[in-house]
Amino acid sequence: MSLPVQIAPSLLASNFAHLADELQRAEAAGANWHHVDVMDGHFVPNLSIGLPVVSAIKKEAGIPLDVHLMIEKPIEWAERYAEAGADILSFHYEAAEANFEATLETYKATGKPVGVAVNPPCGVEPLRDYLGELDMVLVMSVHAGFGGQSFMPEVLSKVQQLREWGFTGDIEMDGGINGENSADCLSAGANALVAGTYLFRADNMSQALSGMRG
Ligand code: DX5
Ligand code: ZN
Repeated sequence: MSLPVQIAPSLLASNFAHLADELQRAEAAGANWHHVDVMDGHFVPNLSIGLPVVSAIKKEAGIPLDVHLMIEKPIEWAERYAEAGADILSFHYEAAEANFEATLETYKATGKPVGVAVNPPCGVEPLRDYLGELDMVLVMSVHAGFGGQSFMPEVLSKVQQLREWGFTGDIEMDGGINGENSADCLSAGANALVAGTYLFRADNMSQALSGMRG
């Protein structure tokens, strides 16, 4: 099995005052998806962008929006983010633990591909029974909340575990990914790599992005 490698620059590291140009720059560099980090200041101690900005990005984007929701009560927001233009929607398992099945159903009902994200301390065992229903698992390689943190290699075993269980969907990794550790992510079984700081701060984004494909 070999899924296509998807590189998703994280807009969190872009210049928010020139978002349309930054979308263009990522697309010209060969990005597959725009990774859009939505933070609510509650599930994570940081605030980023919300619905109006996702809608605005959607109007300018020429590639799919990979929307990573770092929000409390994700069940309440599925439909609105789908309508705003998310092409892939991921919510955090930890934010939905109390009503995981209902949350998953609500996301699936949007008709969009659905991912479930796990922070470094959260194992993937709770997802095992649901893997057949998931389009993507997002294995965080930093604690969600901020860009520019260091990659945590200990989460690679979760990626391997998911593939050993036979998961054939996308496995995305997010946090601290760069041209050096991307090969380890891909060989562990991930096929979608998010990178914010590394790509948006690169001297040559296109070269940095191609280098991540291994
Ligand atoms: C962190 C976000 C990431 C972040 C990645 O909570 O989910 O998508 O933007 O940024 P870097 O690549 O700088 O770690
Ligand atoms: Zn993210």
